[in-house]
Amino acid sequence: MFDSGVGGLSVWRAVTRELPDYDLVYFADQKYCPYGSRPPQEIRALSSRIAKFLIEQNCRVIVVACNTASAAALYFLRETFPDVSFVGMEPAVKPAASATRSGKIAVLATRGTLDGELFGNTREEFAREIQLFTVYPTDWVERVERGDIDSPETFSSVRAVIQPLLDAGVDEIALGCTHYPFLAPLIEKIADGRATILDPSDAVAKQTVRVVAARDLSSSRSATQTFYTSGDVSEFTRVSRKLLPAQDAQFNFSPL
Ligand code: DGL
Repeated sequence: MFDSGVGGLSVWRAVTRELPDYDLVYFADQKYCPYGSRPPQEIRALSSRIAKFLIEQNCRVIVVACNTASAAALYFLRETFPDVSFVGMEPAVKPAASATRSGKIAVLATRGTLDGELFGNTREEFAREIQLFTVYPTDWVERVERGDIDSPETFSSVRAVIQPLLDAGVDEIALGCTHYPFLAPLIEKIADGRATILDPSDAVAKQTVRVVAARDLSSSRSATQTFYTSGDVSEFTRVSRKLLPAQDAQFNFSPL
């Protein structure tokens, strides 16, 4: 699995629940985080070097645990590495559009995801009849990267995004960036039952199970969990342990 940073750990959490008996490798591209404002061709280059690295680690299924990288690079990765199966992700517009009662939904994601062709098509297909609000919160990724998911400043930053959406009558909020589920407890507190929060991690994990089964991959008795970062390994270790409290895994530094 990979992401620009620690955000994909929200998907990791769901995948480890579904596939506890497999060897799992996570790569955080923290040297280049955030991806959100980078041009698609750069994200394709970054993603393909990570895919190459993961394939060298013997990975056969790769979860692109990043909406921005999925939007920019998923089709490219599938073409470039045809022997590997890729699982990608995109904001849950369809479930939000079918669940809304007010006819108003919001998608929170990075600029790269919201400006991408994939999102444009999904919006056109599923959200034509409803009012769709899109927001890219400016500092949430950086806050989660620092492990700052519970300070009063982060609460204010989350409220500044969520409150206007609630005031506008939004009742479904789709989290279209894998960093954001770590702020879901704050969003829930602010929403106070007025909106449902949609985190696609469980659906991605279930899709990963189907892909693993289709490839007939055998489980591993050792079931190792290995983490790599292209950034600072001690900072990555500190923040990952905060985001995934019960984690007992090996942390490795990759110089990529
Ligand atoms: N976590 C990523 C996503 O799902 C990207 C965040 C970033 O690097 O900007 O979009």
